[in-house]
Amino acid sequence: MTNLKSFENPIDVLVAGANGGIGRALVKLLLEDTNVRNVHALSSKATTVNHDKLTTYVLDVGNESELESALANINRLTMVIVAIGMLHNSKGLSPEKSYKHLSPVDMMESLYVNTVLPAIIAKHVMVKIPGKERAIFCALSARIGSISDNRIGGWYSYRAGKSALNQIIKCLSIEARRTHSQTACVGLHPGTVDTWLSSPFQKSMAPNHKLFSPETAARYLLNVINHIKLEDSGSLYAWDGTIIPP
Ligand SMILES: NC(=O)c1ccc[n+]([C@@H]2O[C@H](COP(=O)([O-])OP(=O)(O)OC[C@H]3O[C@@H](n4cnc5c(N)ncnc54)[C@H](OP(=O)(O)O)[C@@H]3O)[C@@H](O)[C@H]2O)c1
Repeated sequence: MTNLKSFENPIDVLVAGANGGIGRALVKLLLEDTNVRNVHALSSKATTVNHDKLTTYVLDVGNESELESALANINRLTMVIVAIGMLHNSKGLSPEKSYKHLSPVDMMESLYVNTVLPAIIAKHVMVKIPGKERAIFCALSARIGSISDNRIGGWYSYRAGKSALNQIIKCLSIEARRTHSQTACVGLHPGTVDTWLSSPFQKSMAPNHKLFSPETAARYLLNVINHIKLEDSGSLYAWDGTIIPP
């Protein structure tokens, strides 16, 4: 059981990427939390989960008219979690070890999923967030998007997509100060999590590297969300609550 007690009113949540490994685990925990009133789950796939607090939407989130229609009947959101992201796909896109492997088409696809989709979701959900009560907009990013933390290189497009996402979140946090005085906009690094996204790369992890189950990661992330401070809006938080430098 999680306990999102830093929100004074019942929480209305939207999770995008709700059928990804981490997205699905977040939805499950949010549905169990007594502070949560509604969970709106956006996904490209239908879900089998049924719950009286849950409303599901199957759509292409990159299609703005589909996104607008899905959001049309939602009046209030006090938590938005974008759990969309892509490191590899079933069409052969995989992270580049060298600049020699860069492909314009694959780069565009990676930047589209990791940067453009969360930004377009922000464009359409910010109007649903009340201006004057505690609220959180967050997108799952990655430590790998930190430029100062880049010591080993590689994974050009994914790194760049997450760096750009961190910049989008920073811009959003600055703009939100004018219209949403109590909304924190942050990136979240979930750690390495046992999902489809990480599965091809787990065998090359260092033996002491932590690999979280999606449920453990979701639990850590909701604990971080509960403790986010407004003055840290624009930051990238890790699963343990520390802030990762840009
Ligand atoms: N797993 C890790 O170790 C790890 C580490 C650091 C950061 N992250 C970040 O955490 C987030 C969640 O990742 P995950 O591990 O849960 O991966 P995942 O199981 O592969 O889920 C990613 C989800 O993103 C959505 N998505 C991917 N491509 C899309 C597209 N073209 N259009 C619309 N939606 C698309 C899909 O959601 P639907 O199925 O609902 O449509 C997909 O299931 C990502 O942002 C990832 O970069 C993960």
